[in-house]
Amino acid sequence: MNLLTPPTQVEIVEVAPRDGFQSIRDPLPTADKQQCIAALLDAGITRMEIGSFVSPKAIPQMADTGELFAAFADRSELRLSALVPNLKGAKRALEYGIREVVYVVSVSESHNRSNVRRSVDESLEDLGKVIERLRQTESTRLRLDLATCFDCPFEGTIDWRQVDEVLGKASRLADGLPMEVALCDTTGRARPYQVANHFSRLRDHHAREGLFWAFHGHDTYGMGVANALFAIHHGATALDSACAGLGGCPFAPGATGNTATEDLLYALQGGKVATNIDLPKLLAAADLIAALPGGQSASHLRQVPRKRVN
Ligand code: COA
Ligand code: ZN
Repeated sequence: MNLLTPPTQVEIVEVAPRDGFQSIRDPLPTADKQQCIAALLDAGITRMEIGSFVSPKAIPQMADTGELFAAFADRSELRLSALVPNLKGAKRALEYGIREVVYVVSVSESHNRSNVRRSVDESLEDLGKVIERLRQTESTRLRLDLATCFDCPFEGTIDWRQVDEVLGKASRLADGLPMEVALCDTTGRARPYQVANHFSRLRDHHAREGLFWAFHGHDTYGMGVANALFAIHHGATALDSACAGLGGCPFAPGATGNTATEDLLYALQGGKVATNIDLPKLLAAADLIAALPGGQSASHLRQVPRKRVN
């Protein structure tokens, strides 16, 4: 890893509308969400997880994802995705015209059961069906979110070999299909050297044409930005983060917000890594998000006087 030569470009995937909003218990008005999303797009965000097609009983906050997507669906230059936990979710996403499906499966058995109420193998079986479906639709992208890649709230530290096993099975199912794999630090307990180790070993084992790597981080232990930087120096080309540092998995006790997009952008700009996002406009979006009922801000940059941010 040569820290003096960062990648020239990194894609930021804004996940506040999904991971962020899902951490707010009482459903927000769709119009408020729409206003926040518009502010994020105005700041130059082009990749965004706009919501999820999950059971509205499990997460009522996500029930308006289809409606939200419809409001921005004509913006074909944007890469808007939605998370799904099963085949039913993928079918609903496709019905709404979603162009990128994010399929989530945890590496650890107990988190998968807590999150989607089935075993890892059952989730992988459904992934196979989702993939068959996607092979029939020419243009829908696949992103695989491997949750609890580094730490599980119930099982503790996760060895890279456990990730290797689950990714191996998923990769065989997706044979020949382009796929972005996100190693997710669901609890925010990963540390930079662990992130480097996972990425370098897994890339050695699974590199193939059409396989892209991403890192999804939370900032629970204050490691979010450092972890993301280690990830891009070890092959990740996309980073998930949430404006204002909103976020947290309702099924992962102890996890706090996602790494704040503005904190990440500040770090990337210091290395001249292009993202095409405007920091002052992003901070304006962060103010909107933090002011939502039930919204909270875990961003470092929002605490710095604005005139000292540039
Ligand atoms: N979207 C909407 N409804 C869904 C659904 C989906 N993707 N999957 C299942 N359902 C519905 C079923 O139709 C059924 O409805 P009914 O009670 O009206 O008949 C009900 O949910 C239960 O279905 P079942 O297959 O038995 O699911 P379950 O109760 O075992 O729950 C999940 C499994 C995955 C649907 C649920 O746990 C879930 O949505 N989890 C979301 C997890 C999440 O978003 N975590 C945070 C992000 S990682
Ligand atoms: Zn998350």
